[in-house]
Amino acid sequence: MSKTHFGFKSVEETEKAGKVAEVFHSVAQKYDVMNDLMSGGLHRVWKHFTLTTSGVRPGDKVLDIAGGTGDLARGWAKRVGKSGEVWLTDINSSMLTVGRDRLLDEGMMLPVSLADAEKLPFPDNYFDAVSVAFGLRNMTHKDAALKEMCRVLKPGGKLFVLEFSKVWKPLSPFYDFYSFKALPVMGKLVAGDADSYQYLAESIRMHPDQETLKQMMLEAGFGRVDYHNMTGGVVALHKGVKF
Ligand SMILES: C[S@@+](CC[C@H](N)C(=O)[O-])C[C@H]1O[C@@H](n2cnc3c(N)ncnc32)[C@H](O)[C@@H]1O
Repeated sequence: MSKTHFGFKSVEETEKAGKVAEVFHSVAQKYDVMNDLMSGGLHRVWKHFTLTTSGVRPGDKVLDIAGGTGDLARGWAKRVGKSGEVWLTDINSSMLTVGRDRLLDEGMMLPVSLADAEKLPFPDNYFDAVSVAFGLRNMTHKDAALKEMCRVLKPGGKLFVLEFSKVWKPLSPFYDFYSFKALPVMGKLVAGDADSYQYLAESIRMHPDQETLKQMMLEAGFGRVDYHNMTGGVVALHKGVKF
């Protein structure tokens, strides 16, 4: 059997999705407050940048993969308006339930689907845009997921991958201290779960850097792939177009 990584641990490929599921079932209720706390609100800026530079227009069909508590789906829905279509999807029922309820509380009723990015339940050439924010890192077969994202996009459609990336070298001692010392403590105090936030810090280190992810997107069938670093490379937004 093949091995893969779950944070810094080596696990059987068949075990990874279950371990990732445990993390997100555990943190779902406190996910949003932890996001604001850990990033000092910066995740809102990163997501805002993704939405405002996307070129997504009224009437577009957009798929948000690993959409969790619905931040991007909400933003897409505002952009595409009533003539558009936005799907909020995630593999994890706890995250999706929090997301769906939150959007409903805000008066937004979007189609929601429990979906694995590696086997998307959507037809070929359907969406104008696909997004995945802070989700790709958790997937076992990233290459398969990227190919699925390409399959469901229309020719000319765009993929947006917002993800933690390789930080600018001078920042790394501070970033490492913050990630490995402060985050697990915050996780324990706020979400009652230090291990999930230790996994977060480790999974970021194991994720492909900017150039490697760009190459993976090219191999999955995307063209005009480029990326934009934010906050010194803490996060990068990769964009690609399906030809
Ligand atoms: C860190 S959260 C990101 C949530 C949201 N996109 C955001 O930016 O706030 C990562 C999400 O990826 C989801 N995920 C992990 N593996 C997945 C897969 N194979 N397919 C779909 N979603 C997946 C998790 O369930 C979790 O909700």
